[in-house]
Amino acid sequence: MTVIADQAAQTIQTPRATPRHYLMCPPKYFTVEYSINPWMDPGTPVDTDRAMAQWDELKRTYERLGHTVDVIEPQPGLPDMVFAANSATVIDGRVLGARFRAPQRAAEAEHFRRWFITRGYRDLVMPSRINEAEGDFAWTGQVLLAGSGFRTDPEAHAEAQEVLGVPVVSLRLVDPRYYHLDTALFVLQRGADARIAYYPEAFSAGSRRVLERMFPDAVIANATDAACLGLNGVSDGKHVVLPGEATGLAAQLADRGYEPVLLDVSELRKSGGGPKCCTLELHS
Ligand code: ARG
Repeated sequence: MTVIADQAAQTIQTPRATPRHYLMCPPKYFTVEYSINPWMDPGTPVDTDRAMAQWDELKRTYERLGHTVDVIEPQPGLPDMVFAANSATVIDGRVLGARFRAPQRAAEAEHFRRWFITRGYRDLVMPSRINEAEGDFAWTGQVLLAGSGFRTDPEAHAEAQEVLGVPVVSLRLVDPRYYHLDTALFVLQRGADARIAYYPEAFSAGSRRVLERMFPDAVIANATDAACLGLNGVSDGKHVVLPGEATGLAAQLADRGYEPVLLDVSELRKSGGGPKCCTLELHS
C-alpha cells in the first residue's frame, strides 16, 4: 500500500510542461539612463545591440519550447519598456493594468493598455494604486502571491483581488536588491500542487513563515543564486529559463526533474532585469 501511495505521489509531482502565451517588448530603446533600483548605474555603459541579441535568444527559446510569443512595439524614451512583466496582470482573460512608482516609467502603462484593447481584451481595469503587475504578482493557479515593500502599494493587493477575483496573499520584501517579488520568487508549477522557488532572505520574517506554511516543499535558493537574479526565472511546468549564472539553482531544479535552460541576460541585468521581467504571461 505504501509503495502504491508513494508512486501516486510521484506521478502527481512529475514536472510537466504546458503551452504558454507570452507578451514581450524588444529592447530597441534599452539604456540605463536613470537609477530606480540598486542594479542601475547610469555610469556603466550598456550595449543595446547585445541586449537585443539576449532578448532575441530568450524569445527564440520560448518558441522552441512550443510557446506563443506576442510582441508589443517598443517606444522611444521608454528604456525600461522591455520589462513587459511590469505592465499588466492577466488572469482568465481579465486584465489589470499597471501604475508605475517611478515617473520615468509611467507612460509605459498606457502603451500596454492600448495593446490589450486592440487585441480585443474587454475586461480591462487600470488600477488606482501603484501596481507594477507581474513584477510583484505571481499567479500559482490558485492564489496570487503579491509583493510590496519597494514598488507595488500594499493597497494594490486588495485592488487586484477585487478586479481579478482571485485570492491574494500579501508578502513583504525587505532587501532593496530584490525590489520586485519576481526578483526573489517564481512559480515552478501551477495548480493545486503548485511549486515555487524563492530566496527567503528577501522577505520579512512573517512573510517567510507564510511561504513555509504554504509551500513546505519549495526550492530554496541561496544568496549566490539570488545575487545574479536567479529567481527571475520562467517555468512552463518543466523547462525553467534562468540567468546563466544561476547554476546552483539549476542543479537543484534538475534534481527534481525540471529542465533548466540557462541564458545570458547580462545586459538586461544592468537594469535589474532577467528572463521573467521581460515576459508577461497572458493567463487565459
Ligand atoms: N529597471 C527596471 C525597474 O527598475 C527593471 C524592472 C524589472 N522588472 C521586473 N519585473 N523585476 O523598474
